[in-house]
Amino acid sequence: MIYADNAATTKMSDKAIDTMMKVMKEDWGNPSSLYSHGQKAKEILEEARKKVASAIGAEPREIYFTSGGSEADNQAIMSAAAIGRKNGKMHIISSAFEHHAVLHTLEKLEKEGFEITLLDVHENGLVVPSELEAAIKDNTCLVTIMAANNEIGTIQPVREIGEICRKHGVLFHTDAVQAIGHIPINVVLDNIDMLSSSAHKFHGPKGVGFLYVKKTVRLNPLIEGGAQERGKRAGTENVPGIAAAADALLEAIDKMPEYSYSVSKKRDRLIAGLKEIPHSAINGDEKKRLPGNVNFCFEGIEGESLLLLLDDKGIQASSGSACTSGSLDPSHVLLAIGRVHDVAHGSLRLSIDEDVSDDDVEYMIDSVKEVVDYLRGFSPVWRDLTEGKREYIL
Ligand SMILES: Cc1ncc(COP(=O)(O)O)c(C=O)c1O
Repeated sequence: MIYADNAATTKMSDKAIDTMMKVMKEDWGNPSSLYSHGQKAKEILEEARKKVASAIGAEPREIYFTSGGSEADNQAIMSAAAIGRKNGKMHIISSAFEHHAVLHTLEKLEKEGFEITLLDVHENGLVVPSELEAAIKDNTCLVTIMAANNEIGTIQPVREIGEICRKHGVLFHTDAVQAIGHIPINVVLDNIDMLSSSAHKFHGPKGVGFLYVKKTVRLNPLIEGGAQERGKRAGTENVPGIAAAADALLEAIDKMPEYSYSVSKKRDRLIAGLKEIPHSAINGDEKKRLPGNVNFCFEGIEGESLLLLLDDKGIQASSGSACTSGSLDPSHVLLAIGRVHDVAHGSLRLSIDEDVSDDDVEYMIDSVKEVVDYLRGFSPVWRDLTEGKREYIL
């Protein structure tokens, strides 16, 4: 099997599995218990917090462990909104192609009276900093823009966005779920006030994430109960998962220079190979994208059929985000970069990592070419295009 869906989830690293097993077998106490077995679990938890903090340039007390990226996004945005509401600032800026964990939270706030501005991400899938600056108003309380997009992998100018927010005294949250462990991020250098991350995107376990919140920003709990996470996130901590997440993150940061070089070379070869398919187009900026992300539209085919046939050939890929696959709506990300419905339906995301070999890359190119050709063979849309009854878009 060739696994090319790392944006959906990654395989846990051996180190992360070993750490998790060790904590589950040996140090399974409750970190809130006062006896030594509990205190050992507490020590592991605090050690993990230090590791995570060091990986992004934060202080340990600025890290809150969560159940993943969605929870971290919700908590960050709801907390910033609460601060805004208190100060009579009810305007939030985001972008049109954020993850639903962000967009749906913003929709909820809109119903509560907040004004939401969604910035255009243009054809290349990038926010333009000057457009962000122009959108900031006196009552703007939050800018939330993702560091890297989960479908098309485009990397936003986070540092510049953060600088603008600082200049205008507006909080800046970034959903860095796809970015952490894949590209360098430093919350101080990048002017980030709040950041969400999820361990299963960097070879850690599922159901574990963290939220960085700058120490001067007031965080509100989403979950009420015990005093865990300094009263900001009730519930007995998932110590084995958290310890494994911290080790996976340090491993990913350690490997990053080599990973970035070798994986982006394979990505570029994939892009060059798929570009040879007539009436196809890459989605998002070709270079300002995550090292492992390739996303294409092919005119005249359905992404779902393409995926199933690739699966038959042993290639695991995606046509959009895992959350929208299974739904007939085209991806909101592809619509946001201006793809029309028909074309957006024929999309393919290959998100690779270092496990994919050069031979795998060639096999993927040949397989996609073959399957696209085959599907076009009996596509009524393709027939209309070739017979001149419809205009080509790509
Ligand atoms: C950009 C982005 N944000 C948030 C999430 C949600 O993370 P989790 O699955 O850990 O809740 C994802 C997951 O796909 C994502 O890609």
